[in-house]
Amino acid sequence: MLTLERSPEFPRQIQKMFGAVASKYDFLNRMLSAGRDQYWRKAAVDLLSPKKGERFLDVATGTADIALEIAARHPSSLKVMGVDFSGPMLKLGQKKIAEQQREQTITLQKGCAESLPFAGESFHGAISAFGLRNFSDTQRALKEMHRVLKPDGNLVILEFSHPPNPVLGWIYLFYFHFLLPQVGKLFSRHDTAYSYLPQSVAKFPMRDELTLLLNQSGFQCATYQDLTFGIVTLYHGIKNG
Ligand SMILES: C[S@@+](CC[C@H](N)C(=O)[O-])C[C@H]1O[C@@H](n2cnc3c(N)ncnc32)[C@H](O)[C@@H]1O
Repeated sequence: MLTLERSPEFPRQIQKMFGAVASKYDFLNRMLSAGRDQYWRKAAVDLLSPKKGERFLDVATGTADIALEIAARHPSSLKVMGVDFSGPMLKLGQKKIAEQQREQTITLQKGCAESLPFAGESFHGAISAFGLRNFSDTQRALKEMHRVLKPDGNLVILEFSHPPNPVLGWIYLFYFHFLLPQVGKLFSRHDTAYSYLPQSVAKFPMRDELTLLLNQSGFQCATYQDLTFGIVTLYHGIKNG
């Protein structure tokens, strides 16, 4: 039974949950967000601003949508490393990478966000989309991303938020906490994964609070911007040069 408490079993439970929903993950993302999820990832990669010849790290890459979006910007002249601790998610990601013939650009590796298997100052940019909220130790993962970034490297985080407009907020609350878990359960055949989603968002720091955590993890000038009425928020920080 998955609880939101950061118990020693939490990472294993999260890993098991994503393994169990992996085959339906992309389909449910597109359906439950009415296709907006790909627009949010594109906006996140715009903010990361990949340049030719650079190396990027996608933390909690899942089925590699972000890694593929980065690769699409300069396919032959940049490198992307995607890391995730779920074998089934990575397997699906690898399949998509092969279908899009991006094997020369993207490498996937199994690993934990809280203990990244890379040397310091390895990447020009690091990004995590819808990953942070699932980590057992958010600040440790942020500090790890800071460690592996080169000086002046960019960090981009994409996470769910809650629309600040009260009317929209109520409509969204109804959708996110009532409809989405039922539709998610129906299609994923997983009892808790899609009720865990809104519960984990409700418990996770957003906007000013998360920006502060970025600053406290070593990132300079951390900022945020809302997308789609504040359903999601993009965060940006820079490693001091
Ligand atoms: C909601 S999915 C996001 C996947 C992808 N970034 C996307 O945009 O669709 C969260 C992913 O985080 C991974 N994950 C959660 N906690 C992790 C951790 N501590 N270390 C590595 N991966 C983790 C899960 O296996 C899952 O693939």
